[in-house]
Amino acid sequence: MWGCGALLGARAGLRLCRELFLAWNRGWSAAAPYSASAEPSRVRALVYGHHGDPAKVVELKNLELAAVGGSDVHVKMLAAPINPSDINMIQGNYGLLPKLPAVGGNEGVGQVVAVGSSVTGVKPGDWVIPASAGLGTWQTEAVFSEEALISIPRDLPLQSAATLSVNPCTAYRMLMDFEQLQPGDCVIQNASNSGVGQAVIQIAAALGLRTVNVVRDRPDLQKLTDRLKSLGAEHVLTEEELRKHEMKNFFKDMPPPRLALNSVGGKSSTELLRHLAPGGTMVTYGGMAKQPVIASVSQLIFKDLKLRGFWLSQWKKDHSPEPEPVHHPSPPGGLAAQNVTRPPPPS
Ligand SMILES: NC(=O)c1ccc[n+]([C@@H]2O[C@H](COP(=O)([O-])OP(=O)(O)OC[C@H]3O[C@@H](n4cnc5c(N)ncnc54)[C@H](OP(=O)(O)O)[C@@H]3O)[C@@H](O)[C@H]2O)c1
Repeated sequence: MWGCGALLGARAGLRLCRELFLAWNRGWSAAAPYSASAEPSRVRALVYGHHGDPAKVVELKNLELAAVGGSDVHVKMLAAPINPSDINMIQGNYGLLPKLPAVGGNEGVGQVVAVGSSVTGVKPGDWVIPASAGLGTWQTEAVFSEEALISIPRDLPLQSAATLSVNPCTAYRMLMDFEQLQPGDCVIQNASNSGVGQAVIQIAAALGLRTVNVVRDRPDLQKLTDRLKSLGAEHVLTEEELRKHEMKNFFKDMPPPRLALNSVGGKSSTELLRHLAPGGTMVTYGGMAKQPVIASVSQLIFKDLKLRGFWLSQWKKDHSPEPEPVHHPSPPGGLAAQNVTRPPPPS
């Protein structure tokens, strides 16, 4: 859930994560313990001025805090993850790009320090998370407009609160929106140990759905299998096992999946399609292998499979009754809440 390695290549990604977290923690311990105070303090932020390799373009900077206007909320960040999409955004490869310079990070939890005179939805001490992507959460504190925030209960574990708004919501929507699943129906997914994958396992189990969870092989496979099963996974298979001929007997004991969730692409997605029930849907929401989805012609013709995509940012936009949040202009020498723009579609 806190991983960022895969989209970069595992090693570069892990190195970057470590560097970013070290920088974050250095800034963090200097400026923001786990409680909020009304005293103004130095804002430390992980900022990038142009797109590129995150290890090269992201810098730890001191920013000025914007003044708190009538509809504004001063927030002290408590925790923020590094998600693959944060890395893509810095690289400039994402469907939504901030105006530069920008503070990194799209997810996290903060505590309200102070509110403007017309703010009614939150009060000092409340915990808040971003309403949508592009807020810039990798900073110790910031001033955001009230519309950019959602209040959450304060009794959630900190790490769960900081990772509530992206992966679990993605998992839930994909389980709800593409097939009318009933208890006992089966769902198959790849990258099942990812943040989204673990949320899929838990939500599916709560809905009474059966899951086939595909992971990459590793030396401690049994440990991972046990962990995913403890979350509610029914079956955990490796990519290699899924390709074996014997798999054709596997679905004699359970219904073939009506929904496949693909965040890998390449061969892995071809295998998911091979096991889908006739008329079933594969939803692609990530491309960790950086390879296209390849669907067999016969599977498409004879099984009438459906290929769909899902993007949480688009879902939120499509289902938001509110206009786009009003963003602050940057204060001198600082960065306030960010604007995001959509890059042109790839040609
Ligand atoms: N569309 C949306 O709205 C949406 C929302 C949330 C997330 N996502 C996407 O979903 C994906 C997962 O995000 P996350 O935060 O859950 O990820 P995460 O927790 O960082 O986990 C990454 C996962 O990708 C796997 N992986 C990495 N490289 C791979 C490769 N070359 N081939 C196969 N598997 C590979 C990892 O497996 P190992 O453990 O074997 O390395 C791990 O399971 C990302 O692509 C992310 O951008 C999309």
